[in-house]
Amino acid sequence: MRIGIIGAGLIGTTAAELFARAGHQVSISNSRGPESLADEVSRIGHGVRAASVAQAAADAEVVLLAIPLGAYKSLPAEALSGRIVIDAMNRDPRQDPDLGLAGRGSSELVADHLSGARLVKAFNTLQYQVLATAGRPGSEPAERLGLPLAGDDPEARSVVAGLIEELGFTPVDLGRLTAGNGRRQFGALSHNSLHTPAEERLMLAEQG
Ligand SMILES: NC(=O)c1ccc[n+]([C@@H]2O[C@H](COP(=O)([O-])OP(=O)(O)OC[C@H]3O[C@@H](n4cnc5c(N)ncnc54)[C@H](OP(=O)(O)O)[C@@H]3O)[C@@H](O)[C@H]2O)c1
Repeated sequence: MRIGIIGAGLIGTTAAELFARAGHQVSISNSRGPESLADEVSRIGHGVRAASVAQAAADAEVVLLAIPLGAYKSLPAEALSGRIVIDAMNRDPRQDPDLGLAGRGSSELVADHLSGARLVKAFNTLQYQVLATAGRPGSEPAERLGLPLAGDDPEARSVVAGLIEELGFTPVDLGRLTAGNGRRQFGALSHNSLHTPAEERLMLAEQG
């Protein structure tokens, strides 16, 4: 699968390496242009190339968003229209501005901006080092860490669930996009904790 990644920092390059290792063709991008990504590309090696944000969006079947949430309005809405887009972004109160969420989840703002995209919230709950090291491809689903996903397009959720499986995590499908928001944000109870799929489901039920 062709996967574009917008944001080539901790989470973007970690995901790029894992997807490339799983056999996908990955494009990584940032706001400074492909030349600035030469070191990352040579470190990750096979399967990854540098691209502009526009190329990473236009060439891909699936696009992962891994930029600071405060920059979400710079995302190319037209190029992402019709694509499966994974939102891995969280609001970090230490660096992101007050986005006027007023009780809404950050993915709802992203969905408003990317109104034509098939948005799935996922890959936002594990710290990048955990994502890099905790995948157990080939192991029993119940023994893996659970990785929640949410989105309004069932087919897009199913594609993203397949990617999560390939990386050795168990997808925990929460259903609609709003289900993946407030409870999964930075600072929420289970953010960045390590849970089996059964524990993830239990915690979500307890959090209402
Ligand atoms: N770190 C984690 O463990 C973790 C885990 C789960 C979720 N997340 C979420 O993932 C997102 C990224 O976090 P991170 O820790 O990977 O941040 P990071 O290391 O600071 O990387 C951010 C990347 O985004 C690029 N960028 C910034 N503004 C951009 C724009 N307008 N267009 C394109 N690229 C842009 C940056 O490069 P340039 O500035 O050069 O463009 C950089 O490559 C955040 O929303 C965070 O909440 C992080």
